[in-house]
Amino acid sequence: VPRLVPMASEPRTGALLRALAASKPGGGFLELGTGTGIATAWLLDGMDKPSTLVSVDIDPAVQKIAQHHLAGDPRLTLVTGDAISFLSAQPSHSYDFVFADAMPGKYDRLDLALAVVKPGGFFVIDDMLPQPNWPEGHAALAAGLLKALAAHRDFVSAPLAWATGIVVSVRKAA
Ligand SMILES: C[S@@+](CC[C@H](N)C(=O)[O-])C[C@H]1O[C@@H](n2cnc3c(N)ncnc32)[C@H](O)[C@@H]1O
Repeated sequence: VPRLVPMASEPRTGALLRALAASKPGGGFLELGTGTGIATAWLLDGMDKPSTLVSVDIDPAVQKIAQHHLAGDPRLTLVTGDAISFLSAQPSHSYDFVFADAMPGKYDRLDLALAVVKPGGFFVIDDMLPQPNWPEGHAALAAGLLKALAAHRDFVSAPLAWATGIVVSVRKAA
């Protein structure tokens, strides 16, 4: 059914992000890949007032749309730049929640994105179920990523056949 109406998965992804966001009062949130800010808006909707969200995108043109709609929210900081450079400058275990929605920090340097997740914190990805628009070779990359998360000694992971395919991973307490 989701294959017939690809956009229909968006609200389901958003609803899950929003619910998980509400579980981290006063939380520090990070989104890699702002895009036009759809998931950003869902995260903000779930976050309480003291929580903060940093969202990073390398493309100022798409991020400008998010800025137009969401910059009035004082909890949000939009960073225009490369996710890998951004992650490299963050202390380890510094975020309660990471939504990794760009290739960097997900398929490239997953280690850097996982490193910033606090014990008990969430690392969330979507688009893990086969999509009609996947380029040649992406299925193998996705399978490798699922395997890496499932095998990670510091995280427990739940791969969900929900929306476009979501993995919720949590860093185990030290
Ligand atoms: C799947 S889209 C994000 C969708 C968005 N989270 C949403 O919910 O609508 C991926 C985004 O990653 C961004 N991106 C690509 N390379 C990047 C990089 N090196 N650093 C940061 N963002 C990057 C793209 O510009 C694109 O907006």
